[in-house]
Amino acid sequence: MKLLPGKFRAKVARTIKNSSIGKSVYYLFITTRFKDESIAVFRGIKMYQSSSSSGNISTLRRNIHRIEKGLITPNPRPYFAESYIHETVVQFKKIASLGHDKSSAQWAFGILNQYFQTVQSTPKIKQAETLFLESAKDSEPANHRTFKAEERAPNTITHTDFLNLNIKRRSVRYYLQQQVPRELVEKAVAVALQAPSACNRQPFMFRIIDDPELLKTASRLPIGTESFADQIQMMVFVVGDLSYYFDVRDKHVIYIDGSLAAMNFILSLETLGLSSCMINWGDIPERNKALKDFLHLNVWERCVMAISVGYADPKGGIPSSIKKHPINVIKYNV
Ligand SMILES: Cc1cc2nc3c(=O)[nH]c(=O)nc-3n(C[C@H](O)[C@H](O)[C@H](O)COP(=O)(O)O)c2cc1C
Repeated sequence: MKLLPGKFRAKVARTIKNSSIGKSVYYLFITTRFKDESIAVFRGIKMYQSSSSSGNISTLRRNIHRIEKGLITPNPRPYFAESYIHETVVQFKKIASLGHDKSSAQWAFGILNQYFQTVQSTPKIKQAETLFLESAKDSEPANHRTFKAEERAPNTITHTDFLNLNIKRRSVRYYLQQQVPRELVEKAVAVALQAPSACNRQPFMFRIIDDPELLKTASRLPIGTESFADQIQMMVFVVGDLSYYFDVRDKHVIYIDGSLAAMNFILSLETLGLSSCMINWGDIPERNKALKDFLHLNVWERCVMAISVGYADPKGGIPSSIKKHPINVIKYNV
């Protein structure tokens, strides 16, 4: 190709890129656009493996989740989880002693307690139980247990109320010049954390920028804020952590779990009188680098999306953004 004149070379490259075989070759072998993601996925897996000796919150949460599922099966086997119960107790000990995630440690404590009281003992389970009882002496008591569906508090929100909340929530891009109280955002994050996540791992962080000087940069990091960056009172970056996974098959889970939490977050903001706009985080190498430098991200941390937050300017415009009708998105039985 180098021997061809520049203009002709560009034309040939364009033609190859636009043909279907050319596209496959281009995306599989030529472009480096997938490089950042691949590196993040593989470095995440490496990090996962190396952190198993220093306390791995992902392993602990996933294993406790698996144990809970074993405990709730209608006809539980006399014993289960034998192959990973020792690893789970070891991780529980580490996480509990580190003390930085009390909620996870207490959940693990309660469920391990229930597990050892429920299953029939085997030599491996007995060994894990002994280790558990040793560490349980120093643990704060917690009464987390699996429960029955009928024990849950009844729903008090009507379908109409929930629909209306969703109709009221629209992407708002023009805000009052008024600071967003952190306590309200923390309340919304508490709701975000009630979202489902694969194996209840919750592999994300809400990185929040509310310092006016930092906001000048943060609000301009995504490409989609060009017309309203100076309006933004708070920027939230939902950052997924690929070190939660031991296999490439889970490389998309941060985006699913992060988005589900983000949806809860913005609906909760509405109930607190705040508005927001989700902002696309495109996979653009220069932007990834800028965000990595700005937030001091690890290689295995990837931005899922950004969210601008503020009090809606009552005079600010809002697109009507009419939604599809359910009939257009439902298809029953193949
Ligand atoms: C993943 C995602 C990325 C988005 N990116 C941007 C963006 O970069 N800039 C912007 O102004 N709005 C962005 N939006 C807001 C959408 O434009 C908006 O959700 C859509 O038009 C529907 O409007 P509604 O949110 O008011 O229902 C984004 C929304 C989502 C869910």
